[in-house]
Amino acid sequence: MTHSANGSSNSERVVIFDTTLRDGEQSPGASMTLEEKLEVADLLDQLGVDIIEAGFPIASLGDFESVSEVARRVKNASVAGLARASDKDIDRCAEALREAKRPRIHTFISTSPVHMKYKLQMEPERVLELIASSVTRARNHVADVEWSAEDGTRTEIDFLCRCVETAIKAGATTINIPDTVGYTTPQEYEALFGAVRERVPNADKAIFSVHCHDDLGLAVANSLAGVRGGARQVECTINGLGERAGNAAMEEVVMALKTRHDILPFHTNIDAKLLTRASKLVSAVTSFPVQYNKAIVGRNAFAHESGIHQDGMLKNAHTYEIMTPESVGVSKTSLVMGKHSGRHAFREKLKELGYDLGENQLQDAFNRFKDLADRKKFVYDEDLMALVDDEIVTAHDHIKVLALMVMAGTHGPQSAALTLDIDGDKVTHQATGNGPVDAIFNAIKALAPHEATLELYQVHAVTEGTDAQAEVSVRLSEDGKSVTGRGADPDTLVASARAYVSALNKLMVKRGRAKPEAMQAV
Ligand code: KIV
Ligand code: ZN
Repeated sequence: MTHSANGSSNSERVVIFDTTLRDGEQSPGASMTLEEKLEVADLLDQLGVDIIEAGFPIASLGDFESVSEVARRVKNASVAGLARASDKDIDRCAEALREAKRPRIHTFISTSPVHMKYKLQMEPERVLELIASSVTRARNHVADVEWSAEDGTRTEIDFLCRCVETAIKAGATTINIPDTVGYTTPQEYEALFGAVRERVPNADKAIFSVHCHDDLGLAVANSLAGVRGGARQVECTINGLGERAGNAAMEEVVMALKTRHDILPFHTNIDAKLLTRASKLVSAVTSFPVQYNKAIVGRNAFAHESGIHQDGMLKNAHTYEIMTPESVGVSKTSLVMGKHSGRHAFREKLKELGYDLGENQLQDAFNRFKDLADRKKFVYDEDLMALVDDEIVTAHDHIKVLALMVMAGTHGPQSAALTLDIDGDKVTHQATGNGPVDAIFNAIKALAPHEATLELYQVHAVTEGTDAQAEVSVRLSEDGKSVTGRGADPDTLVASARAYVSALNKLMVKRGRAKPEAMQAV
């Protein structure tokens, strides 16, 4: 079958609904600040995502603000907000979406026996009433309403069909049947869509949607099966970020449709060349590292180690490559610039890597690049990306690391003298600890007292070699909420201080955005 570059002829369009900012952000420790969410939203829009789910406006003031801001600035995509089946949720969601060019209210309620009995404590007939009233209310605010049957794959088919029919009758334009707990299998999910579309009399009046979680590692396979069953919207996230084991990974869905267009004759509007960039940005702002062997965007996704594979690749890349690294935006690792490179060349290089920084951020990133080039023999694209991502993440921080001096070695106690900038005040403290990292963290605690507990401390190297930059992730938790911070520097201890301080900054943002009301299960 012949098809154009994006595989669009002889195929049907599948709409991409990205929920990185909502379901993705629900992943423990993956919270993003407002500025980070806006960076991600801009890139999702550039990527060609059709609908960006920006958050759950009633959940917190922070969520409300970020949905409003995303709604205000996104140019092309529709912007969706999530709402339970209650008037308050729906009205708050509509308020957050007021400035969106294309607003969508996404309302949901549980439909499975176990959820209705234990979570909602409601009879099925009451659930049906709430579906009708919530969708009607949402339609009174906006023309584009999505309704989801939470735990849809564990719902009795007869009841699911009644729910779907009710939602469409009330005005829902998209019907989502989520695999909320990642329980279904491809054959079952495909058959489910076939059955619902066949049995619901008004099914032709709505677009059907898949939303899969990865508890059994089947989220992408199930999503593709749902499309085969008639769904034309895929809900997914960058890097498969999401609750528990995550959601279906957008990069995998998009590249599967492109690469196996012969048996999956569907296309999306996604510019696949931006997928790697999106993966790196989401990894940087959430501080969730991408596993090395992750499909499409992992560091090893296009690496060939064994002699036999390398030999085959040299003869013909098709021997072991089903898609090219360039098609997903992986540029060959390249030596970028040395310490004599100027600001102009630096800006051009960043543009090539997909970054468009404002003047102040550019200058700060350039200063850090100069500093790095003085300390590191070779500066690679990956180094620059780590550095700039760090700059984006820390640009609006209240607390910044200014200087660090560490005494380490076999004879303790190890100590750290740390200087921080806290809202413009320069403060210094010297602390000891059980090792240099502990000493640094103790110094931070003394300068910025807090009760949060350290849940995770992780280090990895950005590139090869002993002078490689270290990328450190630190996860802190307080009152049941966790945040992850990240720092990069050729000095692992400086990167550790930056990562801890970055997590602390995120925690402060989170604390400052109290919940307007308790989240009950409706
Ligand atoms: O997994 C799920 O069921 C959800 C719904 C809110 C759509 O995220
Ligand atoms: Zn979900």
